[in-house]
Formats: sequence, C-alpha cells, structure tokens
Amino acid sequence: MSLNKEVKRVTTNTLHKMKLNGEKISMLTAYDFSFARIFDDAGIDILLVGDSASNVMAGHETTLPITLDQMIYHAASVVRGARRSLIVVDLPFGSYQGNSKEALHSTIRIMKETGAHSVKLEGGEEVLESVKRIISSGVPVMGHLGLTPQSIYKFGTYAVRAKEESEAEKLKRDARLLEEAGCFAIVLEKIPAILAKEVSESLSIPCIGIGAGKHCDGQVLVMHDMLGINTEFKPRFLRQYLNLHEIITHAVQNYITDVKSRDFPNDLEQY
Ligand code: KIV
Repeated sequence: MSLNKEVKRVTTNTLHKMKLNGEKISMLTAYDFSFARIFDDAGIDILLVGDSASNVMAGHETTLPITLDQMIYHAASVVRGARRSLIVVDLPFGSYQGNSKEALHSTIRIMKETGAHSVKLEGGEEVLESVKRIISSGVPVMGHLGLTPQSIYKFGTYAVRAKEESEAEKLKRDARLLEEAGCFAIVLEKIPAILAKEVSESLSIPCIGIGAGKHCDGQVLVMHDMLGINTEFKPRFLRQYLNLHEIITHAVQNYITDVKSRDFPNDLEQY
C-alpha cells in the first residue's frame, strides 16, 4: 500500500496494536469519493466498501444482486478519496462461494482495479479454503460472522443470530478457524453482547461489532444509517448521529422555492 509521507496510513499492524493497547477501532461504510474524503479527513480508521451498497446505493432489498464490477466501481472511488484509512472491500455474493480459485480471482481483480488494501467475506468453516488461498496470495482478509446478509434466504430473517447454544458454539469455532487461517480482523454482526465479549476476548485479532455490543474491539455502522439518510431502518443497535434526510429535504425545498420565485440566481450569481 502506498504510504504518503504526511499522512500515516492505517494498516493491519496498526489495528493489531490498537487491540493490544485497548484502543477502540472506528469503521464506517463508504461507497464514493466525496464521503470517503470526509470520513477519512475526520479520522476514521477503516472504510468498508460494503456490499450494503446494493441496498443503500442501488435500492435493492438484499445484498445479493450487487456484482463484482459494481463493487469495483465503488471501491475505486473510495480509494481515490481516502488518504489515511485502511480500505476493506466486500467480496460480493457469487464471487467467492463457488471455489477458492474463483475467490482468489475476484480478490485479485479488486486489488488490481481499485487499489484497496484488503477484502472481507462472509462465513466461517464453509469459506475457509478461500480465506487461506487469498491470504497466501498476500491479501489481508477480514472475516464476517453472525448475521451474514448474503445468506438471508437461508436464515429467513434479519433477527439476532447465535442466541442458541449450538449456533453460538459454531460461531466461536468459526472465529477461531478464521484467526488461525490468518484473518486480520472479524466483523461480528447482530449477536448477543455476551457472546461477542467472549469471542473478542478469546482472539488476538480485533473483532469489529455491529449490533454486537460494547465489548468488541471496534464498531462499524452503515453510513446511511448513522447519518440519518436512510430513515426507515431503526434497529435497536443503531445510534443516529444526524438527520440528514431532514436537512437535505429542507435544503432542496428552499432551492425549489428560490427557483420558482426567481430569487435564484440573483445578479451576483450570474456572469
Ligand atoms: O456491507 C456492509 O455494510 C457490511 C457491514 C454491515 C459490516 O458488511
């Protein structure tokens, strides 16, 4: 990864040290140049080019339709915007589940065509061969356990995962396997806080939570949710920091009023 002299890039090593020092890791999704630049300048540690782009950028109901080409478009835009953050790109549904060769091929396209620093994929034991193959090529991998939205039709619901003993045991085993395979971090999505605490404390790699409670080593949110662009999604775990939907609506309404009333543009706003 290219290291700019003035800005010290966050690396997987930085994250490892942060966990050792008990410093929490901040992560947000980003899908375009402009927001990536704002979040990066604000000091975010990790930018995730999430396949949630399928929902919040493209308006699909699930993350399944987004393609590798579309992820590459978003990721390349984010890379151009970020100078400091570590950039993680989701391998989209269908780009890695088939076999580990395909997973590596998809990863290589992401790395070559976007300039991102790492990839994320969903699942544990089922995708372990792919995880190992990608890591052996030199690309850092972030795991993702708990609620894995690419498997929504298997779960049938977006409810909290791993409340049952057997699923919690499988999650703990998967987390260990991902760590042993060499993942640099794992996202834990929508699982009981007590389980996330146990997993985070048992691993030496950082666990980044979303709806997984305060004991994770870091937190991630989808930017549209935390900025209040997306107003319909209000799960208990979400803290909304802004009501951008309302702010933008007012701005657009004022603009419409000014255009209709001939107030805009005025004499100073023309050539
Ligand atoms: O795609 C995404 O935004 C994610 C986060 C919810 C972790 O995977």
